[in-house]
Amino acid sequence: KFKKRIGLIGFGCVGQGLFDVVEANRHLGWEIGSICVRDKEKPRTLPASAFTYDVQEVLQDPSLDIIAELISDPKEALSILRQALQQGRTVVSANKKVVAENLPELIQLQQRHGGVLLYEASVCGSIPVLRTLEAYYGSEPLVEVRGILNGSSNYILSKLHAERGSYQSALEQAQELGFAEADPALDVEGIDALHKLCILTAHAYGLLVHPDDVLHFGIQHISPEVVELATALNCRIKLVGSVQATATGQVALQVLPTFIPDTDALYDVEAEFNGLEIEAQFAGKQFLKGRGAGSHPTGSAVWADISAAVRGYRYTYPKLCTNQATFVLGNEQLTV
Ligand code: HSE
Repeated sequence: KFKKRIGLIGFGCVGQGLFDVVEANRHLGWEIGSICVRDKEKPRTLPASAFTYDVQEVLQDPSLDIIAELISDPKEALSILRQALQQGRTVVSANKKVVAENLPELIQLQQRHGGVLLYEASVCGSIPVLRTLEAYYGSEPLVEVRGILNGSSNYILSKLHAERGSYQSALEQAQELGFAEADPALDVEGIDALHKLCILTAHAYGLLVHPDDVLHFGIQHISPEVVELATALNCRIKLVGSVQATATGQVALQVLPTFIPDTDALYDVEAEFNGLEIEAQFAGKQFLKGRGAGSHPTGSAVWADISAAVRGYRYTYPKLCTNQATFVLGNEQLTV
């Protein structure tokens, strides 16, 4: 066999993006070996003969070196990840909801059956933040990780500030550009950012926190008057997800619309861009910025995971075993 083969499940915005990136890199010895989609009627960029409609054809194909799960249906995606990991296979995913809600089980499946799951593409698109947290900050205490984690809501907020445009037309543009979720309520209600924040928390602090337990508000109630007020104060409203160590050795996390002053690094993170500030005890602050959504940036993050996985990279969750912290939810304190 000359080429390494990818089994692609899902051919939407991210699946198409991965396909384009792999095609552009054929000289590196990879090919898409099989593509599974659900909807037979949907018009696509490839002929019908390029697709299978039976996910088992991908999951049971021993000639595939890696499986890329890139669908949005969370139940189906979880079932695919479970089956792949139970077979000890290497699989990559961009599905933040599924990863955030099922991380303990997904880690256990890898430990039990020897498979590998990477999901860098699920958090902040093309920004390599999970690997940075593990490989660089894995043994240093973190003060805080905070950032703009959802491209669609940032796109809408940017439009509201720049053009005083309508919320609805900005949301429609984000949908047309392929940034928004199939159900855009996930973007504007802060739930997508919350999923990403929970994944970040696992890698930054070694805490497995379920999204249902975390305080979050979205941007759906931001009025033009509030945007005006923020502007008058030299601020922009940003939807910020943050997780920080508290003075008492606990960890607090939340997703909230926030007035960000023009002196803050997050101020200039505009449109669909995402940005993250990582503050570590000894390293100080670092800032990462990149495209957080869209077909090619996210497809490229999946491709980076595929390349890393075949070179033997896997998440080690360096802080998972050692963490004694609890996390704070409003006034409640929960031990994890
Ligand atoms: N809907 C998501 C966003 C896509 O707008 O950020 C990338 O995760």
